[in-house]
Amino acid sequence: MPRANEHVVVIGGTSGLGHHVAQASAALGARVTITGRDLDRARHAAQGLSGDAAGCSCDLTDWDSIDRLFQSLDRVDHLILCALQRDHNTIADFDPGASARTSLMKNVGYAAAVHFALPRLSSEGSVVMFSGLSMWMPMPGSTTISMANAGVIGLVNSLATQIAPVRVNAVTPGVVAGTSAVDDADAIRTDRYAALKLRTPGQRLPTPADIVAATFALTDNPGINGANLVVDGGMHLA
Ligand SMILES: NC(=O)c1ccc[n+]([C@@H]2O[C@H](COP(=O)([O-])OP(=O)(O)OC[C@H]3O[C@@H](n4cnc5c(N)ncnc54)[C@H](OP(=O)(O)O)[C@@H]3O)[C@@H](O)[C@H]2O)c1
Repeated sequence: MPRANEHVVVIGGTSGLGHHVAQASAALGARVTITGRDLDRARHAAQGLSGDAAGCSCDLTDWDSIDRLFQSLDRVDHLILCALQRDHNTIADFDPGASARTSLMKNVGYAAAVHFALPRLSSEGSVVMFSGLSMWMPMPGSTTISMANAGVIGLVNSLATQIAPVRVNAVTPGVVAGTSAVDDADAIRTDRYAALKLRTPGQRLPTPADIVAATFALTDNPGINGANLVVDGGMHLA
């Protein structure tokens, strides 16, 4: 778990799993900075956190905004990359523009964030990037997300060898209960998730608290580096 004197930066911390990680970090007394694309929305989301959490703007498709973000920050102990600009794309109705936007933000954008954060990253710190089970288990419309999530794992492996002693790890959530991915799913996805849940050992979807605990396992343990921690209740066995 982040310590009271540590600075945790959550890119994509205005909602969803990133916001849960930020909330839990702030509750433990860590200094937290969250980002989203819109400054007012980020500041508003930060106000709901304990301590003196800050909200900043940063768009992972806009390199200058990433540079500006890290120029404005001091030491970063843990950089958590959770952002996702959702894309629903099948190959039959493929929209290359939408796909390019999501691929760009989740692969090049995650890499660019580490590049601009590098001078600020504490040597005892870590980077955690969010991938997703769709890289192995395609979901309806996940053409782009499946390839972007697989790209995150390649990026983690490459960066773990390049920026040591800073550690770099991935968390790969399954379908997480109580997130917009589930709550706002269309009928086809809802049916697919329900069927997968029934075939998952324990028939239980992971919760945001499970994902937060896994993220902290990666930030805490100096022996974990270049790892991909799958938190899916065993759905990958379904
Ligand atoms: N939820 C699940 O079941 C699930 C399953 C597998 C993997 N994951 C992964 O877990 C991560 C979090 O998912 P979530 O469902 O919690 O997401 P979410 O609720 O949709 O939150 C996405 C976050 O990304 C930010 N964002 C969107 N586009 C951005 C951009 N271009 N640049 C910078 N920030 C951007 C959003 O901020 P603003 O809107 O304020 O800009 C928001 O804070 C994602 O990487 C996702 O692939 C989630």
